[in-house]
Formats: sequence, C-alpha cells, structure tokens
Amino acid sequence: MTQNAAPNLSPAGEFDATGIDLGLDKAEFRRRVENLSNLPTLPHLMDTMSQMIADPNSSMSDIGDEIAKDQVLTSKILRLVNSAFYGFNRPISTVTHALILLGYDAVKGLIVSTSVFEYLPEAAYSLWRHSLGVSQACRAVTRVIDAPDEEEMAVAGLLHDLGKVVMHIEASQPYAKLIEIAAAHQTPLWKMERALVGFDHAEIGLWLCEEWALPEKLAVPIGYHHKAQIARQHRQRVSIVAVADALVRAMEGGAEADLPLEELPPCVEEDVPLTEMQLRRLIDAIEPEIAALRYLTPDDMG
Ligand SMILES: [Fe+2]
Ligand SMILES: [Fe+2]
Repeated sequence: MTQNAAPNLSPAGEFDATGIDLGLDKAEFRRRVENLSNLPTLPHLMDTMSQMIADPNSSMSDIGDEIAKDQVLTSKILRLVNSAFYGFNRPISTVTHALILLGYDAVKGLIVSTSVFEYLPEAAYSLWRHSLGVSQACRAVTRVIDAPDEEEMAVAGLLHDLGKVVMHIEASQPYAKLIEIAAAHQTPLWKMERALVGFDHAEIGLWLCEEWALPEKLAVPIGYHHKAQIARQHRQRVSIVAVADALVRAMEGGAEADLPLEELPPCVEEDVPLTEMQLRRLIDAIEPEIAALRYLTPDDMG
C-alpha cells in the first residue's frame, strides 16, 4: 500500500479499491460484524420497554422500575446522567427521574450507548470522544435552530457512529487496518468501508437499530448521516447530525481518520439554515467542550 496516495475515485465518486488488500475476505468481515458475538444482548429489555410504553396501563414509574431491575445497567445510566456531560444541577437518583427529564427514546438510546461503548477497545477511545462531542454539538445545533427534542438529538449524536463501534468490537484488527488505509488514501472512512467490505458503518448502525427496536427518529439519523440527501423521513434530524459531525470533525482534526471533510449535501443547509453569526456562536460553544473531552476516558464517566 502506498502511503498518502491520491484518492482513486471513479467518475461516480466511488472509491476504487482494486489492488488494496485488507487481509480478510468481505463475507468473513460481514459474518463477524453481524454475529454480534462480543456484544451484550439488548433486545429483551428493549422489547419489554417498547411493550410497556405502548401499554396505557403502564406508568412511567412502572417502566423505571422495570429498568431498575437491572442494577448494573441502572448504575451506568445514573452515572452518565449525573456526569458533567449532562450538567443537570440536581442529582438524578432514579431511572424514573431520568425518564421524566430525558424522555423514553433518549433513555432507550442511553441504554444502548452504555452497553455498547463499554466494549470498545482502548485503541478506539477517540471514537468514544468523537461521539460525545457530536452529541454535545447536536444539542447545540438543535438549540440554535430552535428544533425540537434536544435530548433525543443528543442521543442520536452519541450513537451516530454506532456501526463503527460495532466494527471496532467485532472485527478490530481488519477495521483498524481499514482506517489506516482510508487515512493513507485521504478518503472518507465510509467510502473506504463500502469499497473494501461492501457496506458502511451507517448501514450497520441502521441494521442494529432495527435489530434492537430503537425508534425511527434515532435509527434514521444514524443510518443516513453520510447521505442525508436520500433520507425520506426525519430529514432535519439527519441534517442536524450531519452538521454536528462535520463541525466536530473539523475541530478534532480527524479522529478516526474520517478525513477529508466532505462538502455537505445542499439539503443539509436547507434543513439546518445557519447564519454566519449563528455558526460562529456554535463554534464558540462547542470548541471548549471538544477540548475538555480530549483526555477523557470512558472510566471517567462509567
Ligand atoms: Fe459516520
Ligand atoms: Fe462521526
């Protein structure tokens, strides 16, 4: 492999991976990722939660009590919502309280994030920091354009690269190699994933959201954050994540080698109209948060 080679782009903008060897066959990579053998099983709690939410006889505290039966998960959720990352000024001591403050869908997303990031190999902690940064940025963008559901957007940001987390966990060596190759060829990671393994992290994320019955308003932004132009629903949510991701990537200087920064599709600008002034204010708000995350590890937050 040539270091710092120029991008090999086909006329359609696809990366031409002829001659690049990942050392693992596509089908084998897919099998490893789809196996989820190193990930916890989430569907049970997710299904129970969905059923209870749909049942008019279940109250929010019934649902909180159900989640609280899992003590390990509960303590992780409470540590996260009480961390500096959330910045609530009063301690949150029960899952029901977290549900009241954040809403069902945000808590569902937090269950996924606390369960999944824990398995991330140390070499990939930059992805965890990136995800926290994008989560904060999603919250900030949502606020600036006065869009609804800030907490759900924060969770969409936290989980937007869920597919990368899974690839790091299930196929860590070939995926690390793929990241290196993408950096050497100055090609966005998702394009290199498509070229070398036939699918990208956004698709894996979408597939997992379906597998774990996460709501569409989380699943769609996760699945389309690199191709907002083809998202048919929840377009503004997709665009908020795309903008937040681009802002954070520009500030962190290429964590996960997800460079170069691509131009965002025009629909993103329509969905998230930002004046020069708003953009500057956003950058001022997000930059110190990204800097504060630089040395944080998952242990600092539980
Ligand atoms: Fe991504
Ligand atoms: Fe990202």
